[in-house]
Amino acid sequence: MPEEKLSLQELWKRVSTSDSGSLMKKHLTPSVYNRLKSKVTDYGGTLADCIRSGCMHLKSHCGIYASDPEAYDTFSDVFYPIIREYHKVDKLEHPAPDFGDLNNLGFGDLDPKGQFINSTRIRVGRSHANYGFPPTSTKEDRLEMEKMTVDALRTLRGELAGKYYPLTGMTPAVQKQMTEDHFLFRDDDPVLGDAHGYDDWPAGRGIFFSNNKKFLVWVNEEDHLRIISMQQGGHLAEVWQRLVKGLHALEKKLTFAHHPKFGYLTFCPTNLGTTLRASVHIRIPHLSKHKDFNKICEGLNLQPRGIHGEHSDSVGGVYDISNKRRMGLSEIEAVQEMRRGVEKIIELESGLKTKGKL
Ligand code: ADP
Ligand code: ARG
Repeated sequence: MPEEKLSLQELWKRVSTSDSGSLMKKHLTPSVYNRLKSKVTDYGGTLADCIRSGCMHLKSHCGIYASDPEAYDTFSDVFYPIIREYHKVDKLEHPAPDFGDLNNLGFGDLDPKGQFINSTRIRVGRSHANYGFPPTSTKEDRLEMEKMTVDALRTLRGELAGKYYPLTGMTPAVQKQMTEDHFLFRDDDPVLGDAHGYDDWPAGRGIFFSNNKKFLVWVNEEDHLRIISMQQGGHLAEVWQRLVKGLHALEKKLTFAHHPKFGYLTFCPTNLGTTLRASVHIRIPHLSKHKDFNKICEGLNLQPRGIHGEHSDSVGGVYDISNKRRMGLSEIEAVQEMRRGVEKIIELESGLKTKGKL
């Protein structure tokens, strides 16, 4: 969080006079700004709450967050075009959830010989219905949401059963180790901090682990919930089946915010819709050095990241490769898009390896 918060007028001046390439800067034209500057949602959310991070971090790609579930419509003049452009959809509509036939997925392990994939992870985000997002949540809201979530998590059985670890009281050493091991979220991302993501930190935040550490839930980080399934190796089907099982079990106890146009609602517009990111940590030392690596990923609708999460670097030719699109397609389609893309990446890496080419 900034020491002293800039007013909306100061934020606007900062971004409008900058050369920021963010979608927020592009779509918040002077006339849109003037139309929106005095609006307030029923949750008390303002335009300043939505654009603060993007104005403080001019290199943001998207640069806007929803202060609460109503913000998408209250500030539609800026959100709608951003959502269209980011998700590459003409129409603002999202299909009904479809998780596929779990007993007949048609895919299994993407790397049965263990030559390329270190681990596989799928996450979805969920927001509790009728609660604000970080800028409009109070400490009491966060604690209430944490309690609701933990009560629901306690009902999980079998492979999903586990334990909740609140951040309050966790030693810095344990927290650091869990983050390095790719289980826990970071607590030092200034982009999220300036979006109010760390307000009242660490109140109401924590992580749930199933006993086998393959099913996880992040509580009150960027989203109210991030539901995660992960394991070593490339068995995408097992990861997906576990995620869907866990999600359906939680849906029996909790009500999640859903929008007729945008599907499941998240704090950041880039995550709307399925809210799903399916990723592998994959060893691609040859392909990743290819001059067209980014273009190849783009063409496959894949997004490469470093292995310590968004905005981190690759280590030793290992990349986090995931589906890029989350809205305008169903959950199973998003997973299939990632599967097809990763299969192609493996094929290309194998070809380059055989030829000994870079
Ligand atoms: P998200 O938006 O999906 O939460 P981040 O990029 O912030 O993603 O990553 C969160 C954490 O999950 C990081 O520690 C990252 O290394 C880890 N992670 C992502 N994909 C995988 C994967 N396939 N295997 C292991 N860890 C992963
Ligand atoms: N606000 C940042 C940007 O615009 C992050 C966007 C996507 N990432 C996220 N964690 N929501 O670049």
